[in-house]
Amino acid sequence: MPRVVCLPGDGIGPEVMAEAVRVLQALGIGFEEHPFGGAAIDGWAKPLPETTLEACRGADAVLVGAVGGPQWDGAAIRPEQGLIRLRKELDVYANLRPAVGDGVDLVIVRELVGGLYYGGSGRLDDGRVFDTCVYTQPEVERVARRAFELARTRRGKLISVDKANVLETSRLWRQVVTDLGREYADVELKHGLVDSVAMWLVMHPGEFDVLVMENTFGDILSDVAAGVTGGLGLAASASLGESGPGIFEPVHGSAPDIAGTRKANPAGMLRSLALALEHGLGEPALARALEAAVDKALEQAPTPDVGGTATTSDFGDVVLASLEVAVR
Ligand code: NAI
Ligand code: MG
Repeated sequence: MPRVVCLPGDGIGPEVMAEAVRVLQALGIGFEEHPFGGAAIDGWAKPLPETTLEACRGADAVLVGAVGGPQWDGAAIRPEQGLIRLRKELDVYANLRPAVGDGVDLVIVRELVGGLYYGGSGRLDDGRVFDTCVYTQPEVERVARRAFELARTRRGKLISVDKANVLETSRLWRQVVTDLGREYADVELKHGLVDSVAMWLVMHPGEFDVLVMENTFGDILSDVAAGVTGGLGLAASASLGESGPGIFEPVHGSAPDIAGTRKANPAGMLRSLALALEHGLGEPALARALEAAVDKALEQAPTPDVGGTATTSDFGDVVLASLEVAVR
């Protein structure tokens, strides 16, 4: 049974996945590739074929490149539907979005399967349009527990982000996190309002360790955090459930504007693999080694998006070389 299932997808997805595959091979970790996204629509008429889903269920970690592209836009069956279904099937409720660089080392834990994006929505005959934010106590508690556990393995500081001065769901959120905090006396817990945390993230990102928040707040603030630490090509994510495999993927999309030009930065993909080593495969030391190798490649072989001239595989060469030294 392969421990890792790789879903390269579309556009630059397969290009950055190729570098992750080189790392898996170097570390001797078993893997299998399966069709996903637009590539799967073309060959199998659906973005998440059943054989792909079954392989994912049996794996310890699922690595995703990126999906989508103009050739599938506007069709009834779209590549992104595969990603949404995969997240739902694996019930990954905690989305970890680290932001690292320039004195910044923080992780946003975003609730991924509830809140404003999953509550009832609709259009009424009188012209009113609505979306609703709904949470239950267990939904808040399970993601908050993840965040406390994560803070414990880091600098022991957690900020719970809400809008408790206005929103009822935020008042529940704050209450549940406060109650849970009694189990984690070793973690320093603070609460912050989302607007002021947003400003603080831009002005003093180095002061944060772990943040936990509702789906929409996390969607927005994690992109802010990615922006203040070098941009899209560098950002990684892990989506974790209770016991099944997590999904590990770069934050960027399929970048059709640069696909095929060898310009894609594989850093976000490789940092996602580091998250898989840590949270899916139980290999934290290898995760640290890979993160260090990516930092070195960003210095020695930067791709055009971060001001250099290296190709995707030049970047991978530096990662492989320093990784081989580290794990020898
Ligand atoms: P995008 O993230 O693909 O690209 C935005 C810009 O960032 C482009 O100029 C691109 O060249 C650049 N960029 C992105 N990743 C890069 C990397 N690793 N190295 C260097 N430059 C990089 O977002 P966009 O253009 O909005 O979407 C393109 C397609 O990707 C669409 O079909 C969209 O639906 C899909 N998409 C898929 C996602 C996923 O698979 N999780 C997430 C976001 C978008
Ligand atoms: Mg977003």
